[in-house]
Amino acid sequence: MCGIVGYIGNKNAYPILIKGLKRLEYRGYDSAGVALLNSKNELNIYKTKGKVSDLENFVADKDCSGTVGIAHTRWATHGEPNKINAHPHCSNSKNIALIHNGIIENYADLKEKLIQKGIEFKSDTDTEIIVHLIEYLLQKHNTNLLSAVQLALSSVVGAYAIAVLDKNNPDTIIAARKSSPLVVGIGEDEFFIASDASPIVEYTKKVIYLDNEEIACIRRGEEIKFINLKNIEVQHEIQEVLLDIGQLEKGGYAHFMLKEIFEQPACINNCMKGRVNVAHDNIKLSAVIDYQEKLVNAKRIIILACGTSWHSGLIGKYLLETYCQIPVEVEYASEFRYRNSVVGENDVVIAISQSGETADTLAAIELAKAKGAFIFGICNAVGSSIPRATHTGAYIHVGPEIGVASTKAFSGQVTVLAMLAMALGRSKNTISEKDYFEIIQELANIPQKMEKVLQLNEEIADLAKIFTYAKNFIYLGRGYCFPVALEGALKLKEISYIHAEGYPAAEMKHGPIALIDDEMPVVFIATNNALYEKVVSNMQEVKARKGRIIAIISEGDTKLNDIADFCIEVPQTLECLEPLITTIPLQLMAYHIAVCKGKNVDQPRNLAKSVTVE
Ligand code: G6P
Repeated sequence: MCGIVGYIGNKNAYPILIKGLKRLEYRGYDSAGVALLNSKNELNIYKTKGKVSDLENFVADKDCSGTVGIAHTRWATHGEPNKINAHPHCSNSKNIALIHNGIIENYADLKEKLIQKGIEFKSDTDTEIIVHLIEYLLQKHNTNLLSAVQLALSSVVGAYAIAVLDKNNPDTIIAARKSSPLVVGIGEDEFFIASDASPIVEYTKKVIYLDNEEIACIRRGEEIKFINLKNIEVQHEIQEVLLDIGQLEKGGYAHFMLKEIFEQPACINNCMKGRVNVAHDNIKLSAVIDYQEKLVNAKRIIILACGTSWHSGLIGKYLLETYCQIPVEVEYASEFRYRNSVVGENDVVIAISQSGETADTLAAIELAKAKGAFIFGICNAVGSSIPRATHTGAYIHVGPEIGVASTKAFSGQVTVLAMLAMALGRSKNTISEKDYFEIIQELANIPQKMEKVLQLNEEIADLAKIFTYAKNFIYLGRGYCFPVALEGALKLKEISYIHAEGYPAAEMKHGPIALIDDEMPVVFIATNNALYEKVVSNMQEVKARKGRIIAIISEGDTKLNDIADFCIEVPQTLECLEPLITTIPLQLMAYHIAVCKGKNVDQPRNLAKSVTVE
């Protein structure tokens, strides 16, 4: 969702801001804008609907000079995506420009009050009230910019990351955040701000992550000052970002999504590094060692997540219940937070999030924490809000995921959940030696087996061509492969806009079977496991109704050739690790269908990578 970039230093701000916006494109947006203060102290604001490249074309013949500026990509919430609603928004005197990520919940109230005071509004956004409020408070209290921002933010309810530029303070950017991410980069005589570190890393590795309700006062040639809404000065340690610029580029692949699918073997190796020790037959997760008592004594585990992370959570439930004998509930964070959920001190909450910024997951964590639960995070983005809000956790270490449709993060999450189930099961003595050792050995084989699946890329690309006609798809699986069916369906709908539903295969009889005819593609995950025969029976039911069957099967299985229209053979693995193998052909199939349909794979319409509003 909305991306924020800011620069103040001695270089031309515009190219840095544009490059920064491009680094944030993955978050999802529908319009873009930039505000620059030039050497004559003129404030130039340019905005366009559409892509950052549209903004570049629009400003080609305009004055883009200046060594201080702010820029924004907007994902519409209040008001349609158009030039007027795009950020930066400007105060009525045209002195102050502001960009914002988040939602101001009491904007209607505040807007009404400001209108009564004669202030004119131009856009339909919630954001515009902040810039007018700042200017109003500046004048009313005859105060400085920092105090006016502080006062304005004290009156707003909701989530924000903002950056403010003021003609009367030409050497200053004021930035602040609450519940939406913001990071400050510290270079040599220059500062950067951004929604995450990706626009910053090519200039400096030194960053500071703002905490909730904090304001950064960034002045040219001075040290940054951090102050909170209660007017207390805050000290921050500078952190180093371990992000390599190569990880933010496509590296020869047509799309980030394809690159990320192909990165999975390496990612899983990275995720297991130092944790899975095959030579010594053990799995070590530092969080399980440090918080063993808390975790071993958990009476219940509640997994909270959204989207793809929720699907990996379902696999986590199967793993943790089987090997740790702890009851596990998997909840959509957005539902959990608005229910009167019963949570207590004996509960362990596992919060799963790739971005570490999902607003609903973050709010659900805070709620569970307030009720006494112990919170374990499984995240990818190091230093993001969720890992900072949890008691402990394990990073998945798969590197930045840029494609909006999550792929390698899913594999990383499942791998961490498998390692967690092993480590905890071992501590609790609820896993047999045989299972424990077998799973350790097999985890080490997974990257190699993933490589084999990736060799099917061409075959799957050919298969995809046949199915571009489809308006609907059904995905069916059982046991550990039921969440895989959900994830396969989600991938397809996200990027190809084909309606797709995932179901537990047996549940098909209770509804989806009514949809099956000779035009309906049905994807079965039918690998050789304990439920194989059951899945084959379900497949026969589809065949009898002339559905077009695509089956993901185990290598060497010839039995399904007569039933399925198309078979994709994948290497056999242990049942509990099958999602790591069987998800990959579904990711590739969704990818190739979307490419055949000419869709924007990396930035599908309406979707955002980092969902920072509820
Ligand atoms: C968005 C993304 C999905 C992701 C979900 C949860 O919808 O497009 O790919 O699974 O958010 O995000 P999280 O960062 O919390 O895993």
